[in-house]
Amino acid sequence: MRIDVVTLFPEMFRGFLDGSLLGAAQKSGLLDIRLKNIRDFATGTHRQVDDRPYGGGPGMLLMPGPVVDCVESLCTESDPAETNDLSSSIAMLTPSGRPLTQQVVEELAERRRLILLCGRYEGFDQRICDTLKPDLISVGNYVLSGGEVAAMVIIDAVARLIPGVLGDSRSAVDDSFSGTERLIEGPQYTRPREYRGLRVPDVLLTGDHQRIADWRKAQATHATHGQTNNHTEK
Ligand code: ADE
Repeated sequence: MRIDVVTLFPEMFRGFLDGSLLGAAQKSGLLDIRLKNIRDFATGTHRQVDDRPYGGGPGMLLMPGPVVDCVESLCTESDPAETNDLSSSIAMLTPSGRPLTQQVVEELAERRRLILLCGRYEGFDQRICDTLKPDLISVGNYVLSGGEVAAMVIIDAVARLIPGVLGDSRSAVDDSFSGTERLIEGPQYTRPREYRGLRVPDVLLTGDHQRIADWRKAQATHATHGQTNNHTEK
């Protein structure tokens, strides 16, 4: 899968992309992640990319020219057979977008390409949306300083679903929110068997796979926010 990140701050992604899971996925060719700097598409001596909103108001908005030119340069870079695909590959990170859920992540992971548009300042000039018709995505009901952290959330969550990226393919299947029931995983334990008087539940030490699976199922909760599990059963 190829992911292009359109941003004013490509340097924010360096450590993140070089990290173990994503670094290895890129080296092995499972993921091709490219950073595109919007400023490279700015014109004029000041290479301006933002300006004040018409009608007044605080902050600065990203101007349409550099953002649209940057995205269109990605379209011309691509193989003509892919060009139709590209309009459906553009995701704009904005707090006004549809909420990112595991289901949305699964949908994004199906695409051959993804172009992630990161805003800064107060947001985007509306004509960027009108021209590119991106999928608007929010990573939560709060406002970040820009779309970069949100893009990293998407890259991380999508990468886990690409076959071969995780060492053990069951890990993504077993993840919380996955599968038709979308359950949140229950508690898990590793060594030691006892820590500060807290013991690993006996069932996990039985080696009885069916009992263990039943116990785990009983511990899992439905993915409803704020719901907790008392995890008391031994
Ligand atoms: N940019 C700023 N806040 C955001 C959010 N909550 N989700 C996605 N992009 C954003």
